[in-house]
Amino acid sequence: MTKGRGILGIGAAVPEKRLTNRDLEQMVETSDEWITQRTGIRERRILGEGEDPTQLGVEAGRRALISAGISSKELGLVITAANVQVMPVPGSSAFILEGLTEGLKVKDIPFFDLIAGCTGFIYALEVARQMFAGGYEYILVIGLEALSRFTNWQERETCVLFGDGAGAVVVGPVGEERGILASYLAADSSKWPLLRVEAGGIKTPASQQTVASGQHFLQMEGRGVFEEAVKMMERASLLALEQAGIAKEKVDWFVPHQANLRIINAFAKRLHIPWNKVLVNIERFGNTSTASIPLALDEAVRDNRLHEGDLVVTCGFGAGVTYGANVIRW
Ligand code: ACO
Repeated sequence: MTKGRGILGIGAAVPEKRLTNRDLEQMVETSDEWITQRTGIRERRILGEGEDPTQLGVEAGRRALISAGISSKELGLVITAANVQVMPVPGSSAFILEGLTEGLKVKDIPFFDLIAGCTGFIYALEVARQMFAGGYEYILVIGLEALSRFTNWQERETCVLFGDGAGAVVVGPVGEERGILASYLAADSSKWPLLRVEAGGIKTPASQQTVASGQHFLQMEGRGVFEEAVKMMERASLLALEQAGIAKEKVDWFVPHQANLRIINAFAKRLHIPWNKVLVNIERFGNTSTASIPLALDEAVRDNRLHEGDLVVTCGFGAGVTYGANVIRW
């Protein structure tokens, strides 16, 4: 039932505003040289003041629908993966679906939001694949992230890393030979303290004190994340490939979560993957979290590097600590 289900269309959207390393030099004690050498990032896109992040999700979704050749009325389900919701209630999918179907008076399209850290898009692809057993024909999967809203712009350890963006795919019937062939989803919950936003939830509701002490910002233990990330992405990729019964040498494209160029490098070395098989665009977008994998895929489709029939492995890690990989015959 889940065979022959894969990516029918793809789209992405990023904010207009570019924030370069030179700009950051004016904001915190850092340098273009440090950021480039330690992370590979040269610039990132950041939402302007008052800009609504759901518009990125709507735009990415609209482009994915056009590329799949279907209308929003034909959608069976919408899943949005994000670390942080646009509003505490309801989830971001409500606003994205509203934007995509505006004026169409479309009803009866279920949606839900999925929180699995930066691995959210990988998790959501597998969830979409499994939902076909329930009779859903076309499923829109969106990775939407606006981490700039949760970044402490006075803390150099984190503020140089993140960017905003959204990527979307329509998952649907692609023919027996193609589609999502296997996924490996995993997590190590004992490591959750590595990445967290402490306040704003039920445990520590927002108060003057939480705002004053910066508990609404993303906090990260960078070195710990680095070490785990490389091992987790390697493990997930190999186990997903094993499940699919495919040797790693057969893979055309590895698409790792774009968190840090050194992490991607170390991952490629551990797996002995030639660098020309790795999709990398972190230098222009920074770490866009759940959006990073669909952003990289979208770019590769548009500039004609990624073709129908190519074998693709996505892999990532994120808050939780979650990790995972999908094997896709494009
Ligand atoms: N500019 C200049 N110096 C800096 C900066 C900066 N922006 N940030 C840190 N430094 C300094 C530190 O203070 C430290 O100085 P010290 O030696 O005097 O103490 C020095 O640089 C080295 O710091 P480290 O933390 O050891 O640097 P490291 O090489 O580990 O790089 C980094 C830090 C980039 C954060 C790295 O650990 C990393 O990328 N980790 C993974 C982060 C990640 O993936 N996060 C997100 C995952 S989940 C998600 O995607 C939302």
